Amino acid sequence: MKSKIIVALDFASENHLISFVDRVDPELCGLKIGKELFTALGPRPVEMLVKKGFSVFLDLKYHDIPNTVERACAAARDLGVWMVNVHALGGAEMIQAARSGLGNAPNRSLLTAVTILTSMDAAGLRTIGFNLEPVEMVKRLACLAQKSGADGVVCSANEAKELNILFGENFIKVTPGIRPSGSPTDDQKRIMTPSEAMEQGADYLVIGRPITQAQDPVSVLTSVMRDIDTVSYTHLTLPTICSV
Ligand code: C5P
Repeated sequence: MKSKIIVALDFASENHLISFVDRVDPELCGLKIGKELFTALGPRPVEMLVKKGFSVFLDLKYHDIPNTVERACAAARDLGVWMVNVHALGGAEMIQAARSGLGNAPNRSLLTAVTILTSMDAAGLRTIGFNLEPVEMVKRLACLAQKSGADGVVCSANEAKELNILFGENFIKVTPGIRPSGSPTDDQKRIMTPSEAMEQGADYLVIGRPITQAQDPVSVLTSVMRDIDTVSYTHLTLPTICSV
């Protein structure tokens, strides 16, 4: 995918979806379909967007027994999605099964693993029994994901630089929790601006509400593109095997 921006299409209505999609083109951004849109409208919008030439990130964050996840990933592959994801907390066997469901065709769908949701902070992690800082959890889960065959992770841009040092630049970092300065944070906790995220070495920025709920979504999108165009990131080291 050429663009660094993935717009989160968190809508439940086809009208909303169509009116947004009619204003953008595949050169401008990738599109993310998550649980809201998929539950409301099913796989048809995925097929429609793939047909229009968009890189579609199917963000259903699978977390189930390995066999179920493998078959779900195979179904996602058949829809022609560019990227699909699982929760790294599902463990090594589940991630390996997901990877196997995607097959080995030259242009196969990419697999990313969600580490820790960007809406969680250290206090939130403690409430579910994890006493590590988010960055430490993210490093562990990213290591597990890499060893299990994932192409990358979904993480906060706060962790991208450290992950680049540990796992190399070829391990994809997809970063939600992006807020252009002045935008409301909503329910996100580990956030960064688009240019800060690029400076940290994020590969793709997932942006939802700041674009989709703007009066003029395309002008916000193009202004983010202008901002990040001027940012350069120097990768520090290039290991390929994790060492956490
Ligand atoms: O509107 P906003 O920019 O907060 O949207 C972020 C999108 O990224 C949502 O669709 C959310 O489901 C997704 N996401 C996230 N944090 C993750 C993984 C995915 O916010 N760790």
